[in-house]
Amino acid sequence: MKLFAASALLLASAPVALGQDFTLLNELFQALNSSGHTQLVSAAQKLNGTGSGQSILAQLSDRSPSVLFAPTDSACTSPRFLVSSDVDVLADVIAYHIVSGNFTGVSTTYPNTTVGFTLLSDPKVVQLEASGLHQVVAWATRSDGKIHVLNQVNDTTVTNTTTFGNITINSIDHVLNFPQPLSTTVVTDNTSLTIISTVLHNVSFPFFNASTNQTASTPLFNILESGLHGFTFFAPNNTAITQALSSLTSLESDQTAVEALFQNHIINGTTVYSPLLAGSNANRTSAAGEPLSFVLNATGHYVTSGNVTAQIIQPDVLLPNGVIHVIDRVLVNTESNAAAASSAASSASSAATHTSSATAPVGFSATATSSGSASSGSHTGNAARGTHAGQDSQHLLKVALVFGGVVAGLAMA
Ligand SMILES: *[C@@H]1O[C@H](CO)[C@@H](O)[C@H](O)[C@H]1NC(C)=O
Ligand SMILES: *[C@@H]1O[C@H](CO)[C@@H](O)[C@H](O)[C@H]1NC(C)=O
Ligand SMILES: *[C@@H]1O[C@H](CO)[C@@H](O)[C@H](O)[C@H]1NC(C)=O
Ligand SMILES: *[C@@H]1O[C@H](CO)[C@@H](O)[C@H](O)[C@H]1NC(C)=O
Ligand SMILES: *[C@@H]1O[C@H](CO)[C@@H](O)[C@H](O)[C@H]1NC(C)=O
Ligand SMILES: *[C@@H]1O[C@H](CO)[C@@H](O)[C@H](O)[C@H]1NC(C)=O
Ligand SMILES: *[C@@H]1O[C@H](CO)[C@@H](O)[C@H](O)[C@H]1NC(C)=O
Ligand SMILES: *[C@@H]1O[C@H](CO)[C@@H](O)[C@H](O)[C@H]1NC(C)=O
Ligand SMILES: *[C@@H]1O[C@H](CO)[C@@H](O)[C@H](O)[C@H]1NC(C)=O
Ligand SMILES: *[C@@H]1O[C@H](CO)[C@@H](O)[C@H](O)[C@H]1NC(C)=O
Ligand SMILES: *[C@@H]1O[C@H](CO)[C@@H](O)[C@H](O)[C@H]1NC(C)=O
Ligand SMILES: *[C@@H]1O[C@H](CO)[C@@H](O)[C@H](O)[C@H]1NC(C)=O
Repeated sequence: MKLFAASALLLASAPVALGQDFTLLNELFQALNSSGHTQLVSAAQKLNGTGSGQSILAQLSDRSPSVLFAPTDSACTSPRFLVSSDVDVLADVIAYHIVSGNFTGVSTTYPNTTVGFTLLSDPKVVQLEASGLHQVVAWATRSDGKIHVLNQVNDTTVTNTTTFGNITINSIDHVLNFPQPLSTTVVTDNTSLTIISTVLHNVSFPFFNASTNQTASTPLFNILESGLHGFTFFAPNNTAITQALSSLTSLESDQTAVEALFQNHIINGTTVYSPLLAGSNANRTSAAGEPLSFVLNATGHYVTSGNVTAQIIQPDVLLPNGVIHVIDRVLVNTESNAAAASSAASSASSAATHTSSATAPVGFSATATSSGSASSGSHTGNAARGTHAGQDSQHLLKVALVFGGVVAGLAMA
């Protein structure tokens, strides 16, 4: 009875409006301060000044399981934390470091990934298929035996893991960058995509722009950069495109075929992270209305369209409005099925409104614990950065010209 009275008193005196557990936060901050995360703590304390910041502190202290990616003090030499007098920016940065859910015992070896939803849902930086959806962070153990957070400008590793109650604290050696638009991502993080990026600039589709109510011929690059909210793009790397050049050139004059070919690389309306492209619900319908099927086995993760199977060589390249999986072959499939495409897009848009509570690892990683076989050596960096951009540049020009020709053809038709 006494116990009950005491806890009722505690509840009554807790400032309900803020929803924070001050006792827990103080203890957490003490633990973080004494383990070399004083900059993170002082940044987190600044959040108390805004509603969105208080909401983050409330979620961090709600005692449910979560993972905190905690930049060490030496990681905070990068400008974002220190310069940010803008508390809203600071709130977004910190929100991206907190992942909801119980990831205890979850471990994946790249190119398998662990994907979790962060607290970041600010519409200024997250434009997924429905408003309120949360951005994810992806991580995996690489062949150097360390856990790397993927898609980071500075290769970021987990240097220590400790726990505080239900919070797993992963110390990291850089402040995390949240996903940037396609244009930035191709330049800074993925030079193996420079050719596809050029091709996307040179192929235009009719696209309905909701803010002007007009359908206009729009470069596919712009559609992916800002037009679509929620998409999955299987992007052939530079080598894949140069290898498919003769097939692509032969399609040059067939606009319908080119359109179908591109749409067979896209899932329209849904952001599908790689762990969801495995198992019994993996199969999807492309934007062209054709089946996309998936195999995940000991050799790798594969996508099949028509009679082409490509390997996913870099999964989960995250964007504010979707996700890219880099593949090693062009899915040369020019079939299409308009009815299937439109039914897939409409079921995607109705599914998008069901915002899940999203407090668990996404997809298979919940159960995947791998034996960690040494995968082929060189990828210790964040992403499979292309190294042969220069070598491919003459092909790049050639492909751009090929697809430039197609655009001219469309305009004349
Ligand atoms: C990990 O953090 C704990 C708690 O601060 C500390 O005792 C331990 O020495 C750290 N381990 C490493 C490898 O830095
Ligand atoms: C937030 O502000 C409240 C009231 O001003 C204060 O009691 C609380 O300790 C602050 N929380 C943090 C984490 O600084
Ligand atoms: C951890 O979470 C469980 C269930 O989510 C809860 O019952 C328990 O009280 C939490 N423990 C702590 C120390 O917060
Ligand atoms: C990468 O690290 C360097 C050196 O620590 C830092 O100056 C730079 O700001 C970091 N870049 C990003 C995008 O975090
Ligand atoms: C988190 O998952 C681990 C492993 O499955 C389990 O032992 C633990 O009880 C879970 N914690 C909570 C709070 O649910
Ligand atoms: C677009 O059309 C819709 C419905 O016809 C209308 O409600 C809306 O105001 C229009 N928007 C613009 C920018 O013209
Ligand atoms: C996925 O598609 C492939 C090829 O069409 C088919 O063989 C397989 O049975 C499908 N898998 C599921 C789970 O539907
Ligand atoms: C995606 O689906 C919408 C709705 O059906 C459609 O208007 C749009 O053109 C499609 N986009 C692509 C790239 O296929
Ligand atoms: C990825 O997961 C699949 C299925 O669980 C497994 O067969 C494969 O060995 C894993 N790959 C790595 C590198 O761990
Ligand atoms: C994995 O699947 C791919 C694509 O179907 C196939 O080529 C490869 O041989 C398979 N590997 C194993 C180990 O079964
Ligand atoms: C793949 O399918 C296309 C028709 O879609 C056909 O022209 C081509 O010969 C096929 N390739 C193989 C290797 O079967
Ligand atoms: C494209 O992927 C293949 C297969 O992983 C790789 O051999 C090739 O070097 C990659 N090309 C570029 C430009 O990164």
